[in-house]
Amino acid sequence: MLIRRRHSWELPESAATPETVYLSRRHLLGGIGLAGGLAAGALAGVGLPEFARAAPTPGDPALDPTNDLYPAKRNDAYTLDRPVTPEDITANYNNFYEFGSERRNYQIADLAARMPRRPWTVKIDGLVEKEREVGIDDIIRAMPLEERLYRHRCVEAWSMAVPWTGFAVKELVAWAKPLSGAKFIRMETFMNPKVAPAQNGFVYPWPYVDGLTMAEATNDLAFFVTGVYGKPAPNQYGAPLRLAVPWKYGFKSVKSIVRISFVAERPVGLWEQVQGREYGFWANVNPAVPHPRWSQATERDLGTGERRPTLIYNGYAEQVAGLYAGMTGEKLFM
Ligand code: MTE
Repeated sequence: MLIRRRHSWELPESAATPETVYLSRRHLLGGIGLAGGLAAGALAGVGLPEFARAAPTPGDPALDPTNDLYPAKRNDAYTLDRPVTPEDITANYNNFYEFGSERRNYQIADLAARMPRRPWTVKIDGLVEKEREVGIDDIIRAMPLEERLYRHRCVEAWSMAVPWTGFAVKELVAWAKPLSGAKFIRMETFMNPKVAPAQNGFVYPWPYVDGLTMAEATNDLAFFVTGVYGKPAPNQYGAPLRLAVPWKYGFKSVKSIVRISFVAERPVGLWEQVQGREYGFWANVNPAVPHPRWSQATERDLGTGERRPTLIYNGYAEQVAGLYAGMTGEKLFM
């Protein structure tokens, strides 16, 4: 007899409240006080003028050539212990430093929307059987798309619950055919100062880069995102291809990827390059290990406005704790 084991992070479908129920809570953002963010203090970004909300076109997800693939079927193995965060909140509270650091005034979403979504290619290189550069539509159409409800926890101590659409990173790894010497994957964001104004500045060592071990990348939870809320992802979420590794702080989840390299050496992420004392390679969520400038014991749920206790590995310990067994000398939680 097949007995399906319920994981600790699974709840019955009835416990995941539909997005529509929460859509009326748009007032909440105004009242949210953050613990101080990546952009605060030592990491201040490039100052940009206030923007009026404009109707953008080049990045309009409605014109996305893969539109017909959405909504993808939800994978019911991935459910939540909290309501899905309303789209108008997640769409307008973004960290995407290429477009500035003013998360809350629509500036990121508006500027990102001006970025053309096509043509877009992804270079697959390094220790693979055959290096190649592939059109994003060919990748998306070759992969088994599904929807997953994931918690999303930023190192700045805010959190969301997001219905991502995409495919398991391990599917792309298998397709890329890495050689045995590949120990890590390194992901790189586009570099285009014409559309991303902050890339004209010298504060950050662009392009944005981060990476995973091969064991992390091939864990079931590691997910490449192409869509959100049942449609192609708008640019501010990191279209057309973005990582989601929900047991790690959000800065590991590289947006708008143009290059995936299979490498032997551990990649040094953008934040680690900028401030290695505060942001490390592993960045696993842990309530007991404070950021040097603030506590990680609790988080602010941007959807409900509630403060919740932070969960070890963001609630995904059952799936990922084994990846780190015996790694005593490593700073796994920063
Ligand atoms: N990727 C790029 N290219 N640029 C960024 O500034 N910010 C990171 C991550 N990926 C970032 C990025 C951080 S700090 C977080 S918390 C998440 O994206 C935010 O994702 P969201 O805006 O969809 O919530």
